[in-house]
Amino acid sequence: MSRASLDKQPHEVAAMFDGVAERYDLTNDVLALGQTRLWRRAVRQAVDAKPGQRVLDLAAGTGTSTQPFHAAGADTVSCDFSLGMLQVGKRRLPHLTFAAGDATRLPFRDGVFDAVTISFGLRNVQDTERALSEMLRVTKPGGRLVVCEFSRPTIAPLRTVYIEYLMKALPAVATKVSSNPDAYVYLAESIRAWPDQRELASVIGKAGWRRVAHRNLTGGIVALHRAYKED
Ligand SMILES: C[S@@+](CC[C@H](N)C(=O)[O-])C[C@H]1O[C@@H](n2cnc3c(N)ncnc32)[C@H](O)[C@@H]1O
Repeated sequence: MSRASLDKQPHEVAAMFDGVAERYDLTNDVLALGQTRLWRRAVRQAVDAKPGQRVLDLAAGTGTSTQPFHAAGADTVSCDFSLGMLQVGKRRLPHLTFAAGDATRLPFRDGVFDAVTISFGLRNVQDTERALSEMLRVTKPGGRLVVCEFSRPTIAPLRTVYIEYLMKALPAVATKVSSNPDAYVYLAESIRAWPDQRELASVIGKAGWRRVAHRNLTGGIVALHRAYKED
């Protein structure tokens, strides 16, 4: 079964997610040791979707990350380029609107969303800056961006335990629960190679977003970045 390499060729990334789609949510919950719920709650609060607002959840996969915005009464679109993930999503969450699309060439007009958010997706996109510019393009003036992504633990002992032990154990644990344990080798590698909180904030700013801020979750294992499009 396929796994992407760190150059993140789009067809490899999409095929890898096609391969894990069926068991994706279960594996996620197990490997994140119950933290996913906490992270999703923080994203919901940061996005702060209001009834009637248009929210794009990019790299939405099976749509689990979109649910909180839909529950808040927003008009949501769950966009992803893995047809496997979208199919599982459509079957399990038929009330959501799914769209096939690549983050670097979004199939939406300019300025149509009040908020754009991406959870555990940006790290997988080959051209991060291009995706951030595309997100800016489809956001309304004054609209907001929320990025939820694995990051760098801020406390040295946690960082050591996390990088030296947990990341190395990940593929072995994944063998028990995932349909494609190799995908979790990629997960560990891609987390290690990903920019830390400050670097990512700077990349977001360079793409044209304003008032970029971030907060750490679970000691910086995950970070939320929030930014706005100029009015
Ligand atoms: C780890 S999953 C996250 C799914 C969901 N957001 C969540 O929080 O559970 C990452 C998703 O990013 C999607 N993805 C990666 N690169 C993409 C791209 N360039 N365009 C659209 N989707 C992409 C993958 O297909 C996959 O479904």
